[in-house]
Amino acid sequence: MNIGIDRIAFAVPRFYLDLSVLAAQHGIDPDKYRIGIGQEKMAIAPHDEDVVTLACKAAAPIVQGQEALIDTVLFATESGIDQSKAAGIYLHRLLALNPHCRVVELKQACYSATAALQLASAYVMRYPAKKVLLVASDIAKYDLNTPAEATQGAAAVAMLIAAEPRIAQLEPLSASYTEDVMDFWRPHHRLTPLLDGRFSTLMYLKTLEQCYKHYLAQGGDCDFAAYCYHLPFVKMGMKAHERLRKLGAPEAETEAALHFSRVVGNAYSASLYLSLLSLWTHRADLDGQRIACFSYGSGAVGEFFTLKMQPHYAQHLDQAGYLQQLQQREALDYARYLHYWQPLEEALADSGSGSPRFLGVQQQQRQYA
Ligand code: CAA
Repeated sequence: MNIGIDRIAFAVPRFYLDLSVLAAQHGIDPDKYRIGIGQEKMAIAPHDEDVVTLACKAAAPIVQGQEALIDTVLFATESGIDQSKAAGIYLHRLLALNPHCRVVELKQACYSATAALQLASAYVMRYPAKKVLLVASDIAKYDLNTPAEATQGAAAVAMLIAAEPRIAQLEPLSASYTEDVMDFWRPHHRLTPLLDGRFSTLMYLKTLEQCYKHYLAQGGDCDFAAYCYHLPFVKMGMKAHERLRKLGAPEAETEAALHFSRVVGNAYSASLYLSLLSLWTHRADLDGQRIACFSYGSGAVGEFFTLKMQPHYAQHLDQAGYLQQLQQREALDYARYLHYWQPLEEALADSGSGSPRFLGVQQQQRQYA
């Protein structure tokens, strides 16, 4: 049975910081960010946007009219908002989904959305009339004045996983690799991760190599029209591609998948899927073609898998809307960036507009409008 991505959309916060502002503040050559790590802007979530509101903004257009068929919500995130309750339950309410729907949160750093994709596909294989709402939503935050600060970002990608999908089929063969390493982790008490940045880039490449070799060992077909990588920063994707080429992978499109991440930054679990959206926004000629995807989550788990583009897939995407959303964002100056970087101390007065909004915490409970 043909199973995969039937609908997809994304959301970014309404603000961004241009990395030239950060470079000027720290007395760093702006080319270190623009060329050295390949980044121009990073998305910054204000206090009234969190992983739930971003997920809601991403999912709302694709669940419309599908509510009765969605009986499972998988919420993938590294930056969850509660140690126990799944963020997806708030989402379930905000989207007014069917009460007879199961909801769960998945975590493994930036990898969890790919696990969710595999689990959703297996579920739909068993219940082909059902659809799974898969949301990857993250706010990537690193300590100020560290090398990682320039690789922050935020986004959510929502997908409907279904039988006979209109956009892309998840092909059955994939290759995973797991190794217990401390390249990036976040103990319970911390809002920002601990990491060994340089080591994390080496682990990313090692995991990619292990996955790709395992894919080949299983007889994987390497006829690809494009490659999409998890993009903690754009240069990482370029290095990943160099590594695959050294292993004999055939040349194919890589550039179109980089555009969105260059101006959004790291979106952890959503990052790979934002790369796919970037590719599909800039290339409408991939009908019937195969895309190689690499997902990486520090700690570490990686997976190499492939998608097959469905006929007329481009008609089921909102390319102009995606570009408009990125263009309509507002630039922050450094002072406002710092203001939003600091966590919220008190509940927000509900003075703003727009929906969905995070209103803060009252009586230890998160409030959404
Ligand atoms: N002009 C052009 N290029 C310049 C430059 C200039 N003026 N100055 C420096 N550069 C280049 C450097 O030569 C270097 O290029 P290469 O990597 O090709 O050698 C690049 O800019 C970066 O410079 P540094 O290595 O000095 O950068 P850094 O050490 O200050 O920070 C980093 C780099 C370690 C990746 C840091 O950004 C970081 O810790 N990021 C967070 C961790 C991360 O994203 N890891 C990725 C893998 S883990 C993962 O994927 C999971 C996840 O999402 C977190």
